[in-house]
Amino acid sequence: MKLKKIFFFVPLATTMLFSQQTGEEVFKQNCAKCHATVLGITNDGGYDNSYVTPAPYVDELIEKLKKETKTKEKFSAFIKEYIENPNKRKTLYGNKGIKKFGLMPSLKGAISDEEKDLLIEYLYNKIENEKKLINAKKPKKVEKVDPREKLFTKNCAKCHATVLGITNDGGYDNSYVTPAPYVDDLIAKLKEETKTKEKFSAFIKEYIQNPNKRKSLYGKRAIKKFGLMPSLKGALTEDEIAQLSNYLYEKYANN
Ligand code: HEC
Ligand code: HEC
Repeated sequence: MKLKKIFFFVPLATTMLFSQQTGEEVFKQNCAKCHATVLGITNDGGYDNSYVTPAPYVDELIEKLKKETKTKEKFSAFIKEYIENPNKRKTLYGNKGIKKFGLMPSLKGAISDEEKDLLIEYLYNKIENEKKLINAKKPKKVEKVDPREKLFTKNCAKCHATVLGITNDGGYDNSYVTPAPYVDDLIAKLKEETKTKEKFSAFIKEYIQNPNKRKSLYGKRAIKKFGLMPSLKGALTEDEIAQLSNYLYEKYANN
């Protein structure tokens, strides 16, 4: 079964390889010598922004034709007809173009039907595709990290998980038991018990320096489960403690 599949795909893949011509190539071969794709680039590849191309700039042309033809079908039909039988009475781009550049010569016979389809697909999507490319190349906005988060990461995160189920080595195991209460639960419970932000901050400040089971607000069950939290006395300055408790208050259990 597997073998059959391979034999079926090989000839298909090779014919696709050999006949791979893109709409962009058809355009380069047949249209680009007159219709500029970049403004100001002269025939010999130099730059001169007063340089007049021998035919309308292709992006302008496409925009104007899309506006005039409205549907993709009409856009396609117009181009197919015009490149074989240019005629000033048919112009959609406008007589000003013909006055400026002269009438476009007929390209009858130069382009096969298949090439025409590729070409039109390319022209119709050219502007959008190029916009997408430019957007993809733009550096993504870096999410702003709260500078206070570092205090938590450095001093508390190795015990207090911020995401449940993430094990110490970065794996995922939803039965994994963290070494200390999950931070969202913890903050929710403390907010409930302390009521005001001042009391919340005072409690954190006191508890991280002098943990004690009689002070516990989170509950003795936690102490039974995890053991008492070790004292972090000296690890953070007064200012850092204040920043950290503000951060925890603002970030977690806000609903
Ligand atoms: C030898 C130069 C030359 C080549 C090659 C050429 N064009 Fe043009 N084209 C012009 C000129 C000049 C105009 C402006 C005058 C006009 O509209 O006829 C024009 C106008 C057009 C218009 C606008 C018609 C209108 O007036 O509404 C379309 C569409 C167009 N070209 C498509 C193409 C495509 C597609 C190709 C390649 C398959 C191509 N042209 C190749 C010279 C060229
Ligand atoms: C070495 C592991 C460890 C570190 C590091 C740690 N904790 Fe804890 N923490 C615990 C454990 C275990 C408990 C649960 C037992 C308890 O309440 O003492 C706990 C409980 C708490 C409680 C609840 C106290 C209660 O019982 O009411 C607060 C508040 C707290 N931690 C804040 C912090 C903050 C803020 C940091 C960082 C500055 C931090 N912890 C760092 C292990 C840790």
